[in-house]
Formats: sequence, structure tokens, C-alpha cells
Amino acid sequence: MATGLSSLYARRAKEVQASSIREICKLISNSKICSMAGGWPDPKTFPAEEIREIATRVLTDYPEMALQYGASEGIPALCEELARWTASRDGISCTPDQVFVTSGSAQGMELVAKVLIEPGDVAFVGLPTYFGGTGACRTFGAELVGVPLDDDGMNPEALEARIDGARSAGKKPKLIYIIPDFQNPTGATLPVERRKRIVDLANEYDLAIVEDNPYRNLCFTGKPLPPLKAFDTEGRIVCLRSFSKIFCPGFRLAFAIGEKDMIRRMVISRQFEDCCSNVFAQYILLEFIKEGLLDDQIEKNCRYYKKKRDVLLESLDRHFPKSVKWNRPAGGFFVFVHLPDTMDSEELLRHAVDRNVAFVAGTPFYIDNRGRNTFRLSYAQADEEAMKEAVAVLGRLIEERTQQESGERR
Ligand SMILES: Cc1ncc(COP(=O)(O)O)c(C=O)c1O
Repeated sequence: MATGLSSLYARRAKEVQASSIREICKLISNSKICSMAGGWPDPKTFPAEEIREIATRVLTDYPEMALQYGASEGIPALCEELARWTASRDGISCTPDQVFVTSGSAQGMELVAKVLIEPGDVAFVGLPTYFGGTGACRTFGAELVGVPLDDDGMNPEALEARIDGARSAGKKPKLIYIIPDFQNPTGATLPVERRKRIVDLANEYDLAIVEDNPYRNLCFTGKPLPPLKAFDTEGRIVCLRSFSKIFCPGFRLAFAIGEKDMIRRMVISRQFEDCCSNVFAQYILLEFIKEGLLDDQIEKNCRYYKKKRDVLLESLDRHFPKSVKWNRPAGGFFVFVHLPDTMDSEELLRHAVDRNVAFVAGTPFYIDNRGRNTFRLSYAQADEEAMKEAVAVLGRLIEERTQQESGERR
């Protein structure tokens, strides 16, 4: 007789796939590996000293609140501060009751899907896109339809054609999942005209938009473009923001901004999950913002990651053959690489890992299993010198493979 619980698993648990990034992340703990795989921030950017000082103060001044359960929406003073902060930085006007503090934007995404998706509803997602977003939609039974991205992100015409296609097939288009700034994995930024057009399409076709934007503040030159939410006249957009990349991911703090009733439904749904986000961490973040430290921290991070991006791009220019293409991101963490069509990035990864270099092969970012010749590099975590060497190793491996292929063709 079979033992264990496997015969009792729900279908959604059986269908859920372990992400290959999770597997790769295990490699990061091997200190010999130069990992350009996970989208993890560089620990050198964590404001540990400031956090230590604020944590001591919070525990001394109001331990009875900091160590207690908190409101599911987030502690009210933090919601107020976040409403002010996003109004001044992003031009999104919202009241504190439209702000909802979540445990990472991963939870925000899961709650949006829980509130909106009925099995069979169609969610439109980028090809490629971050699999956290697609995974959340899939968990609730969405049918995913991919919209190919170009250098400027999601093309509204391609999106509209797919919305029409889904409707003609008798399906229910429900939401658009989009990462407009420094997209994961392509690093692309959506131009303003496309932002407006995609919001118009949501209005015309009665769709929701999930604007997932954890990299927005890591903008290396000038100011980021207005978020889609700034053009949302009908309350169709839930905007997800995160403190993982600009503060520290270990606190698991993020927030959603949306129309009041939508937020209320997300809040109710979270009550059966984790009840509230980490209260102690919320108070620390609140003090950090009130003291003006968050804006300084963001500026420091931008300078820091810009330098690392430049190191990676210079190394790619030097070591990668002309047949390989990649983007030059204006912010965020990622460079997305296209190998010649005949090459397989998973095979390259196996050879790379043997030489202590890791990246993420592209296929998990494509819901249709395309992208075998693509991979994502993150400049966030690796040391600059290690990154230069790692890119040289990858360049040599790609050259070897290119020569092997041309030999096979002769
Ligand atoms: C596009 C995107 N959305 C969401 C997340 C999850 O972020 P959080 O740590 O806030 O859950 C990530 C993390 O890498 C991401 O790249």
C-alpha cells in the first residue's frame, strides 16, 4: 500500500512545478559559484546599522505594539506614510485605505488572483515574464495567454489581438499581468504611450490590470516613467510595490494600491492566510521612511547597481560573440541574453555550473516553453571581479559551442 499523503494531494498541488530558479538558488550557497541567477539584492546594500538602531528604539519605546498582532491592512501609520510617499514619488493619488501592506508582493499577486480569477478566465502575460505572476494566476485556474514582448515591453496591438482572439473563442478575458519598469526577465521599460494604450484597452474590454513593479525605484538615470496606475481613471489597476529590492527582502514587506472595494476583498482573503504582515518589521520600516532614510537608501542603491550594470555590460561587450544579443537595461537587476536559435541555454548552464558560473535559463519565463536559446543574467548579487571572470567563462563556452556547431554543419 502506498504510504504518505501523495494520493490525497489536491490537483492544484500536483500541478504546481518547482521553479528552476529555486533549484539554481540552492547553488548560491556554494561560495565557489559566481551566481548571476536569482534576483536577490546584494546584501552589501542592506541598511543593517540603521535597522539595528531603529529596532532597538522601537523595542524600547513601544514593545507592546511592535510585538503584537496588527491590522490585516497594515499598521495605519504605515499605510498613511505609503500613501504620501507614492503620491509624491509616483503621482498616484490614493487614500490610506487604498493602501494594503502585504507579505512581499508575491502575496499581493496571490491575493489579486484569489479575488479575481475563476477557473478558465484568461490572464494575459508577457512572453517572457516573471513566473511568480503566472504561477499565482495558474493556481486559481486561469488560462494564460502569452503576449510577445519586444524591446519596449508589451505591444498593445499584439495584446488587443489576443484579447479579441480569446473573446471570439468564447473565453472570459479577465486580467493583464504586466511589469512595466525594468521588466523581469528582459529589463525592458514600457514607453508612456504604451502604458496609456494598455490602460485604455483594459477600460474598453473590461479587464483588470496587475501592475507588478518591484524594480521601479531602481532607475539609473532621471526619473522613472509614470506608473500605469497614474492613468487609471476607472479603478481597474492593482499596483504592487515591494521593499525587497530597495530595503531588504527578509522583512517580506510590500504594498498594493487599488480601488477601495478591491483592497477590502484582498484584505479579507488574507485573514485566512497570515492574518497580517510582520508588525515589528512594519514599525521599523515606518521609522525608516519617517526619518527620510528610504529616499537616501534608494539613491545609494541606484548608484551601486548602476555601476554593477556597467561592469556586466562592458564584460558582455568584451567577451560575447557578435551572434549573441542582449538588452541594455536602464534600471533594475536584469540583462536578458539571446543566443543563436540553434543553441540551448540549459545545456550552456550545465557546462557553466561545472565552471562555477550560474544564471537562469530562459524557458521558465515563457508559458509556452519557448526561449530555449535565452537566459537571464542578474548583476545584483555577484561581485564585480567575479562577474567579469564569469562572463569571460560564458563567452568562451559560447564560442566553443559556436565552433562545434559550424563544424557539425560542414
Ligand atoms: C517581477 C517580480 N515581482 C514580484 C517579485 C516578488 O517580490 P517580493 O519579494 O516582494 O515578494 C519579484 C521578485 O524577484 C519579481 O521579480
